[in-house]
Amino acid sequence: MASKIVTFTLNGKETEVMVKPFMTLARALRERLGFTATKCGCYEGNCGTCTVLLNGEPVLSCILPAEDVEGQDVLTLEGITPQEGLNPLQQAFHENYAVQCGFCTPGMIMIGEALLRKNPHPSREEVAEALSGNLCRCTGYDPIIAAVQAAAEQRAAAEQRAAGAQGG
Ligand code: FES
Ligand code: FES
Repeated sequence: MASKIVTFTLNGKETEVMVKPFMTLARALRERLGFTATKCGCYEGNCGTCTVLLNGEPVLSCILPAEDVEGQDVLTLEGITPQEGLNPLQQAFHENYAVQCGFCTPGMIMIGEALLRKNPHPSREEVAEALSGNLCRCTGYDPIIAAVQAAAEQRAAAEQRAAGAQGG
């Protein structure tokens, strides 16, 4: 089978990549496009480290054929990281000691991003449920859950400030 060009939106930009048959999205991102924020722990759909958002939904890029994202919208950690500094989720992970070795962090942050876009005020149980498919060998999970909740509070406070400013 021949290689083919896949065209999709990556972090808001139309992107083309040449992929071999059965090449996964994770490999295409990392090895063909140089988007290495997405990590691979198990390569078989068990750890969640490779999570990216496909049309806003978390997917495991290590088991998703790259050709399946033709015409779709893919968001990786690079797409939510500002040119300078950290985004609120990244900052909350830092402040809540939710990063130790850091290998699970990109996947955890993408899960948190997807959750907060849908549910800006998640309960502790809702955060834990959202993160339940992602493994972390270092933190014991509590700091990660606390970080997502802290980011939710920061977003809510920022929205209130913006609403107050608009109201004059
Ligand atoms: Fe994809 Fe583990 S690397 S689930
Ligand atoms: Fe090391 Fe999560 S911080 S695996």
